[in-house]
Amino acid sequence: MDRSSPSVPVAGSRFLIVGGASLVGSATAEALLRRGAGEVVLLDNFAFGSEAAIAHLRDDRRLRVVRGDVMRLPQLLAAAEGIDGVLHLAAAMSISMDADPWTGLDINVRGAQNVIEACRAARVRKLVFASSNAVYGYGPGVAGDLVETTPFHSAGAPAGAILYGASKIIGEQLCRDAHRRHGLDYVVLRYSTVYGERQHYRAANALYIIETLDRVRRGERPKVIGDGSETKHFLYVGDAARANAMAFEAPASDVAVNVSGPAPVTTLELVRLVTRLAGSDLAPEHVDPPAGRVRLTSGGAFRIDHTAAAQAIGWRPEIAMEEGLRRLIRWRDAEAALDTAVPAE
Ligand SMILES: NC(=O)c1ccc[n+]([C@@H]2O[C@H](COP(=O)([O-])OP(=O)(O)OC[C@H]3O[C@@H](n4cnc5c(N)ncnc54)[C@H](O)[C@@H]3O)[C@@H](O)[C@H]2O)c1
Repeated sequence: MDRSSPSVPVAGSRFLIVGGASLVGSATAEALLRRGAGEVVLLDNFAFGSEAAIAHLRDDRRLRVVRGDVMRLPQLLAAAEGIDGVLHLAAAMSISMDADPWTGLDINVRGAQNVIEACRAARVRKLVFASSNAVYGYGPGVAGDLVETTPFHSAGAPAGAILYGASKIIGEQLCRDAHRRHGLDYVVLRYSTVYGERQHYRAANALYIIETLDRVRRGERPKVIGDGSETKHFLYVGDAARANAMAFEAPASDVAVNVSGPAPVTTLELVRLVTRLAGSDLAPEHVDPPAGRVRLTSGGAFRIDHTAAAQAIGWRPEIAMEEGLRRLIRWRDAEAALDTAVPAE
């Protein structure tokens, strides 16, 4: 293995996924193991993640789960020992940031710095840092094509969303700084809203999917905020996992790229699509925005461009929303069936 190259082949290599016991981490661990990784260590404090989210991986002897906290550097140093590639996912997103900004900023800023320190100390060959399209901000300034040079917009947007976006900008810059000072190789991936198997309720935009499904399954009409013309741009979790693996393998370093799905969608289209795929013909009910909840708004239609990801790491999205949503619904229904199954005597 050429240790001077920023390319880390997945087959045979050892990976640490920090914040690995959730949506993106569980899918990425699965993808790395499928591609022949020698070992995958999931470090998580289970603040948001769960044993259930990684239950499907438990039989693979190459998987190791470590209870640890990004705020505790010694735990990261121990977990990074002998590791080739680190994926840093542990973070508080807009909703969690809104609920507790002090803790959110600690995780996202000090936590990122601790992960970088552990990478340096353990001579990890590459860090993949999970950023977000939140680095473009929210509110009236956001519209049109969002490319990697698009500036951060904060005017007119909720504090929780802006603190989240700003904390991701700081994390990205800490990676750049470690590259400049210490030669740490890294790739920043700016995911758009992720959805798929093991969907949770922490990503404000994914609530349009999961809450619609919940309502339809209860036989209630799905809700659409306003006229439903707001744009959202989603990313299937399997495509995010593939991007993470490709970022390790690519010779790219010191770069930040968007990782978004094939095309944007309006909230009305999305709610109708989820309703139809769930086998219902319930008509959506148009409602006012729920009070007191963080909403991620824009100034008009937008699209998160992923051309640079193809150039830097050879990645393009593969899964259209209809297929990704079918997979999410299939997973959700299987979970619900397990929950209601009567144990055998
Ligand atoms: N889900 C999305 O829509 C989305 C969109 C853009 C970017 N991202 C970014 O991708 C990453 C992963 O997203 P996800 O949806 O899997 O997130 P998540 O919130 O479900 O998972 C984060 C994981 O980090 C763990 N964690 C939190 N604090 C920790 C701490 N102090 N120490 C150790 N572990 C800790 C949580 O328990 C959880 O398992 C995050 O960095 C997020 O900001 C996610």
